[in-house]
Formats: sequence, C-alpha cells, structure tokens
Amino acid sequence: MTRQNLRMSKNQLNQLYEELDEMHADEQASAPGRTVKKRQSSRQEMDAKLFVRAQEAAGEFKFTYKAARFEEAWLLDSLNEIAGQQLISDVLRKVKAGKEASVYLCRSGSAIEAPLVAAKVYRPRMLRNLKNDGQYREGRTDLDESGNAIIKDGDLHAMRKRTTYGEELRHQSWIAYEFQTLEVLHKTGADVPRPYAMEKNAILMGYIGDIARAAPPLNAVTLDRDEVQPLFERVVRNIDLLLANNRIHGDLSAYNILYWDGDITLIDFPQVVNPEANPTAWNIFLRDVTRICQYFASQGLRRDARKLAADLWTSYGHRITKEVHPRDLDAESKADRRLWEKQKKSK
Ligand SMILES: Nc1ncnc2c1ncn2[C@@H]1O[C@H](COP(=O)(O)OP(=O)(O)OP(=O)(O)O)[C@@H](O)[C@H]1O
Ligand SMILES: [Mg+2]
Repeated sequence: MTRQNLRMSKNQLNQLYEELDEMHADEQASAPGRTVKKRQSSRQEMDAKLFVRAQEAAGEFKFTYKAARFEEAWLLDSLNEIAGQQLISDVLRKVKAGKEASVYLCRSGSAIEAPLVAAKVYRPRMLRNLKNDGQYREGRTDLDESGNAIIKDGDLHAMRKRTTYGEELRHQSWIAYEFQTLEVLHKTGADVPRPYAMEKNAILMGYIGDIARAAPPLNAVTLDRDEVQPLFERVVRNIDLLLANNRIHGDLSAYNILYWDGDITLIDFPQVVNPEANPTAWNIFLRDVTRICQYFASQGLRRDARKLAADLWTSYGHRITKEVHPRDLDAESKADRRLWEKQKKSK
C-alpha cells in the first residue's frame, strides 16, 4: 500500500472513530426506541467498515493480544508504522486503560535491545476527555508531529477555531509534548521511561515491570520504612530536574509514579507546563508538590509542602504569584470569590 493510500484510509478511519464515539455517547444518553434501532444498524455498518480496515492492516502486522474488533483496528492503525520500523514485533497484553490512552505491553523488534517495551496509544477523541486542557496549554507553543513548533497562520487559526483539522493538531501537540518531555528528561538523567518513538497516535517507551506484572503505581505500594526518605528525595530530585528543564509535570501524584524493585519512575507528561509562561504555574507546581507530600505523609514522612515548593520554585528565580485563573475558581465558594475580588482590585 502506498503512503498516500494509507494516509487516506487513516483519515477515513479517524472519521469512523469519531462517529462511533459520538454514537456511544448518544446511546447512553437517549431513551430506547426507533432512533436507537436506526443508530444500531448504522453502527453495525461502521463496525463492518472498521473490520475491513483491520483486515487490511492485519496483513501487514499481526499480534498475540486478543483485542475487541474496534480496539484491534485502533491498535493496528496506531502501531503499524512502529512495527514496520522493527521497533515492536508483538502486542502481548493491555497493561492499563487510562482516561486519555491505553498502555500495552509489547515485545520489542530487532531495532530495540530491551526485550519488552510499552506502547501508550491515545484515544482518537481524547481531547474530549480533557476537562481543562486550556489551563495547561496557556503559554505553551503547540508542536507538530515532528515535535516542531506550529507557526503557520492557517494551522494556528484552525486550532483557535477548533475545526476538525485544528482539533487533530491539538491532539498531536498533546502527544508531542509527552514525547519531547520524555526525551529531554531522559537525556538529563531523570527517572522516566526511555522514549523510543512517536507516531501520530502513540508513544513507544521503556516498559517498567516484567512479563508477568507491570510496575504498580506508588499509591498502591506501602514502602518499607527505610525506603521512604530516600525515595522522597528521589522524587524531589526529579521535580528539581523538571524545573531545571523549564517544566512542571502538571499532574504529578503517587498515581503517576511507578514503583519497581525499589526504584521510582515518573510517567504521564502530556500536560507539562512552562513555569515562566503559564500565569498559574505556581499554583500548578504547588499542587504537584502537595500531592507528593501527601503520599509520603501516608508513609510516615512529614514535610511542609508549601515551604518545599517555595524553596524549589524561588531557587530558579521564579516569583510566587497568588494569582489563580478565574476558570479555576469556584463561583459558589466564598473563599474563591474573595480571592477573585482581590485579584481584580490589584490589577
Ligand atoms: N512505561 C510504562 N511501563 C509500565 N506501565 C506503564 C508505563 N506507562 C504507563 N503505564 C501504566 O499505564 C497507566 C496509564 O498510563 P498514563 O498515566 O501515562 O496514561 P493516562 O491515560 O494518563 O492514564 P490515567 O488516566 O490513568 O492517568 C499507568 O498508570 C501505568 O499503570
Ligand atoms: Mg496517569
């Protein structure tokens, strides 16, 4: 199949995903009746089209994992090129289905030395599940599928107007940020999975765990008493390294740190925030540090989160701003309303 053909069928496939996604949402919301029957028959039709596409791709790449039909087509479409480059040779199982993506354990191909790798495959319409991506995007230049800044007026316009094409660019930028951050942090010696490749819809990275079991997130682990302090310091070192590279994780907590063999690995970076350009960066940073301190407090280590955050923050010359974006305030809360009034006055 030529590249041109592949691209066309990818677009068609994306459209199918979107329609399917919308229909699933509609079905849940609507009452039973004739419209549902009609929807069901057109859904069957779409399922059939997806199946045909999956069959086409399956000629090029087959895997052990028994996926549902829709998931199989999604996987084949997302991982076909990665497989073509000998980066993976098989998909073994689903590690976890997240809100924005699912992570799969893969056997690596001849191009990768490690025997196992993890593929994070994003949902086609994942932007719909991002409640507040604006908060993170502020002050952040969007990136294209090669990780370069998007600067073309037409592209910027499409993103602002949220056209289908614009949404695709935003989706891609979200993934590119995750990959680029992994690259930067890995190079600098942070505890993150090794990044191998980025495709339109997927990231391939080092797998944490073994063939039988993926590494659990820290929140599911009770640490040995003598591990607590050194691991806390390790996490702080990583937060520091992020800041040194002009980044805040933005969704850091014990859920996004994996624990394996006494070591920790930070994951899940698409929402990284620029500490200099984002007006609510300090609040986001403080939230990250607070959540980490909360977990370690549950393991018996008490630290003043605010002081720790402030020390790290100011050591990079950043100013502590009290400002909170109105979008992140609750109109029903008296304290939030007072804060908002105060912010308005000080302008
Ligand atoms: N490199 C990896 N090695 C092993 N397991 C991983 C790896 N990356 C992610 N996982 C597993 O997959 C889960 C989802 O990954 P991640 O947090 O990046 O995606 P997400 O869509 O943001 O998920 P969530 O909505 O749960 O936060 C993780 O909680 C972890 O259990
Ligand atoms: Mg996560």
